[in-house]
Amino acid sequence: MIRRYDFAPLDGITKVVFRRVWAAHFGGADRYFIPFFSPTCHHILTDRDRREMDPAGNGGLSSVPQVMTRCAADFLWAAEQVADMGYPEVNLNLGCPSGTVTAKGKGAGFLARPEELERFFDEVFAGVCLPVSVKTRLGVSDPEEFGRLLEIYNRYPIACLIIHARVRDEKYRGPVHLEKFAQALAASKNPVCYNGDLRTVEEVRAMEARFPTLDAAMIGRGAVADPALFRKLRGGPAATREELQEFTRDLFGEYQAFYGQVGPAAQRMREVWFYLIHLFEDAERLNKKMRRFKSPGEYETAEAAIFAELPLRDHAEGDLV
Ligand SMILES: Cc1cc2nc3c(=O)[nH]c(=O)nc-3n(C[C@H](O)[C@H](O)[C@H](O)COP(=O)(O)O)c2cc1C
Repeated sequence: MIRRYDFAPLDGITKVVFRRVWAAHFGGADRYFIPFFSPTCHHILTDRDRREMDPAGNGGLSSVPQVMTRCAADFLWAAEQVADMGYPEVNLNLGCPSGTVTAKGKGAGFLARPEELERFFDEVFAGVCLPVSVKTRLGVSDPEEFGRLLEIYNRYPIACLIIHARVRDEKYRGPVHLEKFAQALAASKNPVCYNGDLRTVEEVRAMEARFPTLDAAMIGRGAVADPALFRKLRGGPAATREELQEFTRDLFGEYQAFYGQVGPAAQRMREVWFYLIHLFEDAERLNKKMRRFKSPGEYETAEAAIFAELPLRDHAEGDLV
């Protein structure tokens, strides 16, 4: 049975303002993974990194900062910063598929360098001051790569191995590789958390039925598309129209306060609506308006029309890509 639900890090979306507002309106996630920061060899936390991770700004939510690097010394330094801020765990990003990241051998690009990854872990686990969890994919281009990677992971005391059941080349599209995940779950010596494409209560229950020993799942896009998803997984009600309206109003207001401008705030809302629109029926026409608005005023008009005109579903539907 799944006992722990983590909110996945979605860079550009589940940043500090979103996490705070989302948790105040819906909640139900056990932990919030903070989108990655990339330390440099200068070992300086930027103002942006600090704002993102400052525990006071995070409203007391149980959170896990994520680091993306292939340099053990930089990871160890970053882990110290995370520990100094009072966090009990640090996460390593081995999943980011973006070309600019993987070209530097970071994120999912690190999976193509198993020997180097082993040396990295040797150094990290010899000196790290916090439990380390790892968010990985099954490989770069072929899920069969995971056998070799799991041999490496199994040699280290990883607090939790979060597996996004795709390879780098698949980005976030296409079917997840559940047979390969099954093998990974059976063969991992470390605790495992499943990640990928969970959008509804039924999909989560189906995972539990198929993998009775699985006790943790991480959900990202599904919990933006249906903000009540974690609540429903715990037996709570679906989101109402009024609740969603209050949530988006509050979120837009908080983004304006954060940026000091309405333009970037509306842009952030467009990104949230990219997923949230899946909770509404017959959304095509109004979704176009939401995707193409040119001013904050047009954003507000598009949103008001969605709430006024579209039937609300009790779960999200469609591909969240
Ligand atoms: C826009 C976007 C940003 C993401 N940013 C991060 C990130 O900062 N760190 C990370 O480990 N994964 C990141 N991911 C991957 C998600 O955490 C998650 O693994 C992926 O969305 C699959 O899970 P889901 O189907 O539940 O959303 C991102 C994904 C998307 C779509």
